[in-house]
Formats: sequence, structure tokens, C-alpha cells
Amino acid sequence: MKPENLRSKIFLDGGDARETKTYLDSLGFLDGQTTNPSLIAKNPEARKRIERGEKFSADELLGFYKDIVQEISVLIPHGSVSVEVYADRETTAEDMLAEGRKMYSWIPNAHIKLPTTAEGLKAAHQAIAENMRINMTLVFSQEQAAAVYAATRGATKGQVFLSPFVGRLDDRGENGMSLIKNILEMYKKGDGHVEVLTASVRSLDHFLYALALQSDIITTPAKILHEWHEAGMPLAGDEFNYDSKELKPLPYQELDLARDWTEFDIQHELTDVGVEKFAADWNALIQ
Ligand code: E4P
Repeated sequence: MKPENLRSKIFLDGGDARETKTYLDSLGFLDGQTTNPSLIAKNPEARKRIERGEKFSADELLGFYKDIVQEISVLIPHGSVSVEVYADRETTAEDMLAEGRKMYSWIPNAHIKLPTTAEGLKAAHQAIAENMRINMTLVFSQEQAAAVYAATRGATKGQVFLSPFVGRLDDRGENGMSLIKNILEMYKKGDGHVEVLTASVRSLDHFLYALALQSDIITTPAKILHEWHEAGMPLAGDEFNYDSKELKPLPYQELDLARDWTEFDIQHELTDVGVEKFAADWNALIQ
């Protein structure tokens, strides 16, 4: 059962509808799901197929993704399911939009994931004009969060998710949770049209601290949901003490959300690396 007083929405981070069903049954609720190309590549059916030496054609792979997303959507009809467009260094905003529109028609509750790059932001700006729901992914800096806010001004609450990747910052010695704290703080000055979705969650501590910070949404792999369930689905509030160990905190930046979105410096090395890795995992499935 969903704990009373749980204010954050809880999403499963995965690419397998059977896993969705399992956690829906054990937790008694799920508010949504996020997928990405690497998670689809880990889907058990995809793995079996690759182990047999049978890759997909590009169309088959998209059809495979569509089938998974449709199965998940039926399981969580009142939630949101994030579906990620293909993007590599060459992909233009128009390419992303064309694929995003197609994916948006797959299910009634999609959020289309776009990378937080220059082309991804252009696509986001246009997607909002077309009334699409989007999830800006691979966010690693407060400037990127400010740019997303500014590029999607006018969107309704819940139309835009922002996914800062906590674990990947931790991996290089930076305190990913401090980015969540900073973005939530900065967004307090805004109109609330962007919801912060804590992503790349690697531990129960990440999860609990995101609850304590009142992240709008938290997406988490099955393993962490399992740990949370085993612990009796505890909540965390102001008293929660997050041990960031030796991780270096990211300083808060004073940024003006009223600025034009094209003026922010959105470049981040981890975004570029992330785009390449998603593309590589996807392309590895294609013959
Ligand atoms: C979800 O939206 C993200 O794609 C996911 O949380 C990334 O997690 P990872 O950094 O463990 O790959």
C-alpha cells in the first residue's frame, strides 16, 4: 500500500513489463516508469535474442520498444511512462521531434525523453508548443535545469519533468544529491511548471534523501524498491541525515530563471558521454 504522507511520486526505472507487474503487486502502487535505451537493451527478451546471435532491424527494435512501453502503460494507466528518443552527436532537434511525436502516439500517458543538449532543448521548446509531455534527461548541472525551465515556460504543471542523474555524479566524486537540493531550491522561485525527477538512484540513502528533500518524483531501479519494501517503506523528513561521505558538494548558483533559455551554458561532459552510451547500447542491438 502507498504510505500515507508520501508526497513524492515513485517511478520504477526499468525496461521490462514483468518487473513492473512484480513491483506493482508487491508495493501495491507505482506512479510511473522511466525507460531508456540501455534499460531496453537489458530487457530479458532482448538479451536472449542477442545471445542467440539474432540482432534486430532498426524497425523491429522500435517495434520491440513500443510493445514494452504499451505493456507497461496498461499496467500503470494513471501514471506516466517515459520513452526516450534516439540521439547521437548528429541527431537534430527535428529528428528528435519526429521520433518523439511517433512515440507519443504509442500510449496515452507518455513523457518523451529528450537529452539536455542544445538540440534537445530546441526540440523541447517546440514539443511544448505542440502540447507534448516531456522529460529532459541527462541533467548534471543547475544551468541545464535553469535552461530547461526557461525553454519550457508556459507549460502546465506535470508537463515537464527534469531528470538530474545523481549516481553518475557520485561516480566521479561529486555529490549528486546536492544538485537535487540546489535545483529544488532554485525552482522555488519559479512557477512550478517543471517537476524534478531524481534519477540514477543507486542506494536506499539516495532514495530516502530524495524523499526528505521532497523531490517531485523519484525513479529507482527494482533493487532499491525491493530494499525500501523490505525496510517497511519508511518515509524521511527534515530529520533525515544524508551521509555524503567524501563526495564534493556542488555549490548553489544564483541563476535568473527569467533569462532567455539560449543564454545558459548547458554544456556538460557527462551529458555528452551519456548520449553516446545510450546510442551505443541501442546500436549494439541492431544488425
Ligand atoms: C532514468 O530516467 C535514467 O535514465 C536512469 O535513472 C539512469 O540511471 P543510471 O545512471 O544508473 O544508468
